[in-house]
Amino acid sequence: MCGIIGYTGHRTVVPILIGALKRMEYRGYDSAGVAVLNGALRIEKDAGKVQNLEQKIRDAQLSGQTGIGHTRWATHGAPTQLNAHPHTDDEFQIALVHNGIIENYSALRQELTKSGHEFKTETDTEVVAALIQEFYQGDFAHAVQKALKLVKGTYGLAILSVNHPGMVIAARMGSPMVIGHGDGENFVASDPTAFLHFTRDVTYLEDGEIAVVTSDKVEYRTLADEHIDKKLEQLTFDIAAIEKGGFSHFMLKEICEQPQTVADSMRGRLLIDEGTVKFGGMAAVMETLNQAKRVLFLGCGTSWHAGLVGEYLMEELAGVPAEVEYASEFRYRSPALEPGTIVFAISQSGETADTLAAIREAKRHGAPVFGICNVVGSSIARETNAGVFLHAGPEIGVASTKAFTSQITVLFMLALQMGRARRVGASRGRELVQELREIPNKISRILATREKIETIAHHYKQCRNFLYLGRGVNFPVALEGALKLKEISYIHAEGYPAAEMKHGPIALIDRDMPVVFIASKDGVYEKVLSNIEEVRARGGRVLVIATEGDQEIANHADEVVYIPSTDPLLTPLLTVIPLQLLSYYMAVQRGCDVDQPRNLAKSVTVE
Ligand code: M6R
Repeated sequence: MCGIIGYTGHRTVVPILIGALKRMEYRGYDSAGVAVLNGALRIEKDAGKVQNLEQKIRDAQLSGQTGIGHTRWATHGAPTQLNAHPHTDDEFQIALVHNGIIENYSALRQELTKSGHEFKTETDTEVVAALIQEFYQGDFAHAVQKALKLVKGTYGLAILSVNHPGMVIAARMGSPMVIGHGDGENFVASDPTAFLHFTRDVTYLEDGEIAVVTSDKVEYRTLADEHIDKKLEQLTFDIAAIEKGGFSHFMLKEICEQPQTVADSMRGRLLIDEGTVKFGGMAAVMETLNQAKRVLFLGCGTSWHAGLVGEYLMEELAGVPAEVEYASEFRYRSPALEPGTIVFAISQSGETADTLAAIREAKRHGAPVFGICNVVGSSIARETNAGVFLHAGPEIGVASTKAFTSQITVLFMLALQMGRARRVGASRGRELVQELREIPNKISRILATREKIETIAHHYKQCRNFLYLGRGVNFPVALEGALKLKEISYIHAEGYPAAEMKHGPIALIDRDMPVVFIASKDGVYEKVLSNIEEVRARGGRVLVIATEGDQEIANHADEVVYIPSTDPLLTPLLTVIPLQLLSYYMAVQRGCDVDQPRNLAKSVTVE
């Protein structure tokens, strides 16, 4: 979604702002802008890519050492130059950039209009600048605090005032803000990748806090002006992790990283001899896990699909009833969370607004809520009672790939751990741990066949509709394959449990609607084979993901992609890889912007 950067220090600010905006492009945006303080306030902004903005800034010869920048993902008002951030008050004294949604902007705008303010844009953000100016009486931070007390909704803000050169104020309510601490310079951002090239020392703002940032000092206060102390934290991930490293797209890089990222997700957690698992982040809550009577997984998009896989694994291995809910639906239900229910919130970014709201709802009902997150320091990681990090490294491509396989790895380990405490014997535990350890090599073997998948993509790239079918633990993989295709190639695709096809979707089958089947050798293989025949009998084209050694399947399919054999419960970690590659190559061959697909944002921090 939107990205924020702010800087004050000894360097020329424009290259820092532009570099940061480019590093945040992956979050998804449709306009961009900067404001720079240099005696006066100078603003340049435009619809479209940061590259366009860069040229405008060069032409306008902006300079200065304090500034803010923004990439906007439109919510209120079209993605036009006028609606792009930064926004100012009508006296051009205050400039700010905003992530989130000001829910009461309409009422505030009416009030401010009555007291003489004029508004130029359709955004919800502009009122905040006017409100700060309304309260300004010489103390910038007090004006911000007073204004924000009247604001309802969510915000991450970076704010400048002409009267306070060398100062940036950051504020947070429901939308992440991180402060980067340098030597004679400081940064504020919505995402630390924005300033990672300059510093790894960070502090995070909590909801209801502001940071008053100058080149040599950062002060933290609440909206009620209580002063707060914060400890510096260190970012540990590598700069290489946020660069393409020779790959043409982040998505391909991240697909190809999966042997490593899956291994990283299990690193130090497997107890090989005992055939079980231990998670440092869950040690304090083992009693709660062991006594759980029901498990509820919450998530959105790909994380929700991972939860669906988790549901099968949890019931199969631990015998504990499990359910999965869209976080966005759960938050508005009156959930019956009886004692003994434990909740796992699954999120790559740890910032998804719906998942955060669902966590708060589950907590309000007294349930223990644990996180399965990738981003350390994220809001979800901090708001859950305990949890497990994926350790998949930064995921930059908007289409989630390596996070999905790491989520499944973690869910598998969790189900195994709970299963070992309940009904899985040591010898079966050891077998499963051994199978899991072999997964990274097996993923590498699939990746080695990627040229074949590229060729298959070529055969199908003109199709406008696809059906993805799988059963059991591979039904969620069918959903995930369809989501990947939709997201980055804009081809309509639906995922279904294979047996559901005859209850409706079968009406759509013809040569123009290829069907992708997941038919790995497991307990439902024969059933899936029957479903394949039902499609072929109606003239449908069939692409099958099958298990190595299954030569027979080639007689039932137009194309076959093989995965190595593994325990049926682990197949999602393998079957999803060809589907990720298929969507990637189709999107590339159709000329789509793979890493920044239209209308999408990497982390959805608004409702
Ligand atoms: O960061 P999260 O895992 O909470 O994000 C959830 C979804 O927004 C995300 O998985 C989305 O569906 C991806 N674009 C899928 O590729």
